[in-house]
Amino acid sequence: MSDVLHYYRGRVALHAILEGLGAGPGDEIVVQSYTCAAVVEPLLRLGVRPVFADISRDTFGIDPAGLAGLLTPRTRAVIVQHTFGIPAPMPEILAIGRTAGVPIVEDCAHMTPGTVARSGSVASFWSFEWGKPVVAGVGGSAVVHDAGLAAEMRARYRRYTAPPPAREAVMAAEYLAYRVAAGTGVLWRLRSLYRRLAGLGMVTGSYSPDPMNSPEYGWRMSRGTRWRLPSRVAAGRARATGRRRVTGRDIGYVPHRIPVVVGDKERVLREAALAGVEAGDWFATPVHPLAGDDLAAAGYTAGSCPNAEWAAAHVVTLPVRPGTRPADLDRALSLLARIEAKTDA
Ligand SMILES: Cc1ncc(COP(=O)(O)O)c(C=O)c1O
Repeated sequence: MSDVLHYYRGRVALHAILEGLGAGPGDEIVVQSYTCAAVVEPLLRLGVRPVFADISRDTFGIDPAGLAGLLTPRTRAVIVQHTFGIPAPMPEILAIGRTAGVPIVEDCAHMTPGTVARSGSVASFWSFEWGKPVVAGVGGSAVVHDAGLAAEMRARYRRYTAPPPAREAVMAAEYLAYRVAAGTGVLWRLRSLYRRLAGLGMVTGSYSPDPMNSPEYGWRMSRGTRWRLPSRVAAGRARATGRRRVTGRDIGYVPHRIPVVVGDKERVLREAALAGVEAGDWFATPVHPLAGDDLAAAGYTAGSCPNAEWAAAHVVTLPVRPGTRPADLDRALSLLARIEAKTDA
């Protein structure tokens, strides 16, 4: 039986898993490039050195071909991300981990709970924030398969506290706003507006994580998110079959986003937005959204993961929502193809 523990966010769940595995200063953890800063933040907080693995251009997850060469006696774990819901090749990765004696942790933030078979990893973590397959509010869970790790994490879990009441109240208001806005497309329009203003230099997109000082790493999941979670997961599972068939055929997994390779990403995103079609830019850098000095501070060396840098520059993603139909996806794909054709002309 797996043990399930609920934390303030997905990154807090990851931090708890890594701490439970004994990761600390001087250790290394392998994590894929083409990920988000939220995944690297817990490593930095623990004083662990992130070692970035390049991705495969097929799965947008870790390329097993280069993985064994990244493992050293200091490697405490490998984090395997199922990017956009596309399952990473777990049997190959688990075999590499077993040979080296390194545990595998799965980042299931883009997966739909209840639709994923247990793989042989020591633990997986999940996120239920906006933009994830199941939205229940800010929150994350750890599903721990290894009995020793579960016992260690349970013992530490007693020290975690509930978020302060004021934070709970803000989160409840945010969730309400999300539910109202989600059905109207307002969220995406606000993001498009932000993109246009950023393009005009009217806002800056800088992001400076402060993982060392955030009290959030000591909090459990908020009461509101915890209360909503079972019904939101049940609703997500009920609609998963439709999402598996969003391309018109059963693709064997539940996609979260559909990646599309384009030439001129900025232009495609701009023109798609003007045509009223939602396309996502993430991950826009190997450790989204970090760039320049912030990217280097996260431990990423420019040029070290060419496939991740290629994907960051050339992949846009189309959302797969519970109500997305194959015809909607077809329309969006044709529009992107028309924009691309114009780009090339
Ligand atoms: C792939 C991936 N992993 C982990 C996370 C972290 O989740 P959370 O925001 O709940 O900490 C996110 C999102 O932010 C994500 O996209």
